[in-house]
Formats: sequence, structure tokens, C-alpha cells
Amino acid sequence: MLAGCRRLLAAPGLDVRVLQCQPLPGGLSGSVLERCSLQVHDGAIDRTLILIHKRGAVVAGAFLRGASQREAWVYHSLRPHIPLTLPDIVAVDVDQGDIWMVPFAASKPGNHWSAAWDRDDVEQSLQDLARLHHHFWGQTAALAQHSWLARPIGRDAEALLADARAGLSALQAASAYDAVLTPAIVQQWLALAYQPQPLLDELRAAPATLLHGDAGFQNIAITKKRHRRIWYDWQLAAIGPAVLDVVTFLHPWAYPQARPPLSLPEMAELYQQAIRQTGISLEQTAWMRQLDAALLWRWLSQWAPLLGLYRQRLRNDVRERLYQVFTKVHWPALQRWSRART
Ligand SMILES: Nc1ncnc2c1ncn2[C@@H]1O[C@H](COP(=O)(O)OP(=O)(O)O)[C@@H](O)[C@H]1O
Ligand SMILES: [Mg+2]
Repeated sequence: MLAGCRRLLAAPGLDVRVLQCQPLPGGLSGSVLERCSLQVHDGAIDRTLILIHKRGAVVAGAFLRGASQREAWVYHSLRPHIPLTLPDIVAVDVDQGDIWMVPFAASKPGNHWSAAWDRDDVEQSLQDLARLHHHFWGQTAALAQHSWLARPIGRDAEALLADARAGLSALQAASAYDAVLTPAIVQQWLALAYQPQPLLDELRAAPATLLHGDAGFQNIAITKKRHRRIWYDWQLAAIGPAVLDVVTFLHPWAYPQARPPLSLPEMAELYQQAIRQTGISLEQTAWMRQLDAALLWRWLSQWAPLLGLYRQRLRNDVRERLYQVFTKVHWPALQRWSRART
């Protein structure tokens, strides 16, 4: 970190005299974020430097395994190749998953549940996402060198499925049902978790690219001055089909407080247009099937374990909000998927 500060301020003789950190509200991943004030001394000059510290954390479960280290690796070795604006990084420790960064410039208000974005912000962000995907489209050999990238439909699929099955079975065993998570729904998800091949075939049929992994508005800061979009929180960076990122973009807009400036299908259509403009064509019927497959795969990987295995992490207010997304987005996708196969 000291070396990073010396680089940042172009002051090779700089020392840090005092370091004081205050916790930030942070996201929901379990990572600890702090805003740190450093009293630094360089020759005769004393000054204060503010940095954001994202501390590496160990979180149980296949979905977040190695997440902190992965984000540190992105900043350490992929950053120059990513055609997006990322946070300014001062130092990373890839073994601990520790990251020191410069605070973002003032950005549009937002949190995990809503963002004060207009249509243009959505459009620009989807163009960013398409640019990222296009840049790494089909680059499987180059990406394979980064063994730390997640492989949600490759190497990691079995572990993700094992957690999904365990989560759903735990719900069943405890009869932990309610108006949204009914016995019939849990049974339907279990059936899918035990026969995932069509789902995986669908997702594996699409070319792989680099995925941000959690590409929602809660991980994109839009600066007030120049409307630059800063893409952060790369904990789930992965190799996989682009559609897996698209569903993470759509997801937070379905939260009850989100007030999206356009509908979710319109957003999916804007992404399609953006990727088409890069010269990649997506066949409409296959794309719609892939969107459903991605929604279902992500639900199994992320939400089934959280609901069944790690429910102590799930606050009641978060559950309420998630339920609204499940009812609006995931349950209909599950019904379409099942209907098409019976
Ligand atoms: N460089 C930064 N400058 C200012 N705030 C930041 C910075 N990085 C993260 N944050 C704040 O911390 C929150 C959580 O950060 P994030 O990296 O998404 O963590 P998590 O993995 O817990 O979701 C962000 O939404 C933002 O409010
Ligand atoms: Mg986040």
C-alpha cells in the first residue's frame, strides 16, 4: 500500500504517519469496505489522503468462493485489457484479496435497490457491456490462462449445482415454505437442479467471453460531471456466455423501489442492438431461450443456496425485495422453460 501511495503521488520518499479507517455501508457480499484517512509525510510536506479499502473476506459457498482474490486479480492483471472505466487502484494483495482504491468522483445517487438513472445511462451502460463482451468474444484460449476467473457453466458448474440442490433440499426438509416459495415451486426447481443438462447445453451453445459477473447498477457508479460509468465490484468476474451478464444487469431493475427508466424487455433489446452494432448477430429465438436459461442458472447458483443453506445471511427486508423479483422475473422463466419441455 505504501508503494501504491508513493506511485499515486509520485513521491518516492513518502511515509504514512497515521491511518484511520471508518466502515462504509458496503454491499451485500459480506466484504468489509472502509474509508481510510492517511496522514502522509513527504519531505517537509504533510497532507491527508483518502482511500477506500475493500478487505478480503472468506465467504462460504460455491457462488462466492475466492471472490475477494478474484476481484484483486482483475485489478492486478486484467485491468489494462478491459475496455471500460474501472476504479483507480492504489494497491492490491491478490493472496488476501485486499484492494486499496481512490474514492469515486461524486456520482449519481444509488444503492443496492435503486439508482437515479435515466434512459441514456441505461443505454450507455448496456453499450459498455456489449463492448466488454465483444472485446473478449470467443477468446476462450486467452481467458483460460486466468485460472482464477470463475467458470459458472464450466469447471464450477458441479459445485454450484451441489449447493443449489443442498439449498432446495434443506427448504424441503424444513418445510420452509411460504406464499412465494411454495412446495410446488421448490419441487420444480429441484427437478431442474437434478436435470440441468438442457439448461447447460443452451448456455454452452453460445460463445464465451469475459463477464463482469454482477453487472447491475449497484456496481456501476455514474459520475455527475462527465457521466462516466465506473465499473467496480469484479468479485464474480467469469468466463461464460454474455447473456449471464445481461440477466445480472436486469435483475436489480426488478426490485420494487428501482423505478427503471424503461422496461426490462426494452433493456434486453438495447443490449441486443448494442452487440449487433459490434458485428455480432444473435438469433432472436435462441436469444430468448438463452435469456431464460441464464435467469434459471443464476437463480440456482445464487439464490437457491442463499434461501436454503445460508439463510442466516438473508435479512427479512432483503428477502421481501428478492421475492418480488422472483415473482416478476424468475417464476415466469421457470414456467416457460418447463412448458417448452413437456
Ligand atoms: N472506490 C470507491 N469509492 C467510493 N465508494 C466506493 C468505492 N468502492 C466501493 N464503494 C462503495 O461501497 C459499496 C460496495 O462496494 P462493492 O465493491 O460493490 O462491494 P460488495 O462486494 O460488498 O458489493 C459501493 O456500492 C459503494 O457505495
Ligand atoms: Mg457490489
